[in-house]
Parts: sequence; C-alpha cells; structure tokens
Amino acid sequence: MLDNKNVVLYVSGGIAAYKAADLVRQLIKQGANVKVAMTASAQEFVTPLTFQILSKHHVYTDTFDERQEDKVSHIHLADWTDIAVIAPATANIIAKLANGIADDFATTTLLATTAPVFVVPAMNSHMLENPATARNLTTLRADNRFVMEPETGFLAEGYEGKGRLPEPVTIVESIKQFLVSQQLDLPLKNKHVIITAGGTKERIDPVRYITNDSSGKMGYSLASVARDLGAHVTLISATKQLSNPFGIDVVHISSASEMLETVMKTYNSADIVVMAAAVSDYRPKKQAAKKIKKNEESLIIEFEKTRDILYQLGQEKQKQFLIGFAAETNDLESYAQEKLKRKKANMIVANDVSKPNVGFNKNTNEVTIFMPNSEPIEISLRSKEEVAAEIFKIAIKQMIK
Ligand code: PMT
Repeated sequence: MLDNKNVVLYVSGGIAAYKAADLVRQLIKQGANVKVAMTASAQEFVTPLTFQILSKHHVYTDTFDERQEDKVSHIHLADWTDIAVIAPATANIIAKLANGIADDFATTTLLATTAPVFVVPAMNSHMLENPATARNLTTLRADNRFVMEPETGFLAEGYEGKGRLPEPVTIVESIKQFLVSQQLDLPLKNKHVIITAGGTKERIDPVRYITNDSSGKMGYSLASVARDLGAHVTLISATKQLSNPFGIDVVHISSASEMLETVMKTYNSADIVVMAAAVSDYRPKKQAAKKIKKNEESLIIEFEKTRDILYQLGQEKQKQFLIGFAAETNDLESYAQEKLKRKKANMIVANDVSKPNVGFNKNTNEVTIFMPNSEPIEISLRSKEEVAAEIFKIAIKQMIK
C-alpha cells in the first residue's frame, strides 16, 4: 500500500517529536520514500540530522534555502508528495493549517500540497480540549484532511489525559487504511472476506485444553492483505497473542464449535472465505466441570470428532469462493487434491509443515496451490505477508475468469 509512495513527514514542535524518528523508519520499512520538513520548534526537540540520516534525504527547515536554481523547493516538494503526514501535529500547526497561514517552510509547503493530508495531533489534553483547537480540528475535517484520534494515557506533564501521539506502527496502519479508503479501483472493494486464524482450543476441564502449534500469523497476514485490497474483512481468531490489525473486524473464539457458529453467522454475506485456522479434528467427549484430580495412575480421555467447518461451508456454498489450507507432513499433493474435492473448495493452499521455516508458528511459508482443472502453482519460501498477497492475486484472477 505504501510501496514506492512519496511521503512528506511534517514534524512540528512537541515532545512527541522524538517518536517521529521511528515513524520515518516504519514508513521506509513499508517501502515508502520519505522526506522530512521540520518547524523551528521541532528542531528544539530533535535535530534535522537525525531525520536526514534516517530518511537519507535533505531535511527541509527554511523557506528561503533554495538549493536548485531551476526549482522553488516548497512547490517542488508539494508536487512530489503522494501523501503528507503531520506528526506530531501541535495546536499551532493545526491552527495555521485550518486558517491557511503559511509563515514557514512546513506550512507554506502544506498550503501548496494537493495530495491527501494526514494529521496526527499530539499535545497536552487541555490544549486539545481548548475550543479553538477543537474548532480548528473540525475545520480540518471539513476540508477533507484526515485527522487521527490522539491516544489517552500518561502525558509528559505527569498526569493522565488525551493527547498522546499513537505508536508509529499504529500511525502507519492508520495511514494505510486511509489510503485504502481513498482508492476506488481496488480489486476487493465492496467484497466481504471471512478469514479464520490460529489453533482452536478444546477444553478437557476448567484449567486444561488441547490445541496445536498454530500462531495465527498466516491468517492475520491474509487479513491485512485482503484489507489492503479493499475488502471488508472479518477475522475469526482463535488466538489473542497477535494484536488486532487496523480496520478489520476481529472476533475472538476459542473452540472449533465456536468457530463454526461464528463463521456461519456471516457466511451468507461473504464473497470469500479463507480457512487458514488449524481447527481441532477431535475434542474431549466430555468436559469435566471441575479440575480433574490426579487420583489414578493413568487417565483415559475419550475424544469425538469436531464438525468440519470447511466441509460444511462447501455443502452450503452459493456465490462464495472457498479457500482451504492443508497442513501435511507427507503425500502433500494427494491429500490436498482429496480435500479440494471432498470439501468442495475453490482452492486448497497446501503447506508441507515437515520442512524448516514452513507452516506452524513461523514467519515464512512455502505453499502449493491446488484448484479444480488447473495445474498446481508453487509459491516458494517467503514471508507470510508475501504468500498471502500471492494467494489473493491467484484467487482474484480465478474469480473473474
Ligand atoms: O497459524 P500459523 O502459525 O501462521 O501457521 C499456519 C498454518 C500452518 C496453521 C496454516 O498455513 C495452515 O496450514 N492451516 C490449516 C491447518 C489445518 O488444520 O489443516 P488440515 O489439513 O487439518 O485441514 C484442512 C482444512 O480444513 C483447513 O482449511 C482447515 O481450516 C479446515 N478444517 C479442518 C478441520 C475442521 N474441523 N474444520 C475445518 O474447517
């Protein structure tokens, strides 16, 4: 989403200016080209050199520092911009932006910018609540500027209040979401995608359960990619270890039967369902109401089969494009082809989890994609985000065939 996008980061003078250094790093990590402009007050908190080293570009501070004879630098930078981000945005720069004041490099360039402007206010809570600031923020929203909500927490002044700069990774997620909302031609725009993630837990007694090694990383990567492609995503998650991705409806469940019930609730409205979760195939036939005591030398627990969610979805399929996974340690192709047919899936993504760095609880995956009447497609070892992007690329191509 931010890959190769030209981002101009405007840093104004608040204590949160130090966090803007990490924001530069996070934006670059997403593939963005970042240039930084600073107000005079911002330079009291952090030096331009910090941003120069991180962004690998000259840092703009002075309207009259014209380095190229054939260019007016603030107009040139404004025209270069794909998205302008003001973080931290102080009450002062917000007031200037709301009233069209251009009295330094940052505000002059912002006035000349036609690209979307993303404002991240950060200030003392009383300054934020001041009617003048509230009025200026309302003006910015009316002017189609995107204003991110500041966080509530421990302020630099030593008390709790609203006005903290959100963490840089949260800002980046919010920028990505904002860019998605601006795009009209995304392939999954107006599509509802349900994704399951993580390993379900089946209770033995109030303090014990059986589960598997699924971390949820594959499912969460798929959810973020689907969101970036414009989809409305419902992520049905059996894990609480990963933080909720921005702009996605996350429903936490625990057992296979809860997952089945939750998927079925929204199945009718779904266009795509991706079963990336490792769903327990068996559960204890009886759940003990009280903790099982170690009175006996051995313990036998009887298990019964859980309902197969993907199979059920296949039986009730109407318009939905069904993507299942297959986690195998041997005979990958024959098991995957069998699941494709029996579960009436449109696609099975098979991973050989006996290989190093593949499958459960890894950051990378290597998969083979099986579809009816089609040759298998191999996706070599890469990050789960990249695998997720390839899966959707192939699924979208298949859906519009
Ligand atoms: O979560 P990570 O740590 O990132 O690991 C990713 C993963 C290895 C869990 C993922 O890549 C994966 O392979 N998920 C499916 C694991 C699995 O349960 O595979 P299976 O071959 O047992 O099941 C086949 C398909 O049927 C799967 O889509 C599964 O979600 C579904 N199923 C299985 C049992 C059941 N009762 N209901 C189901 O819907």
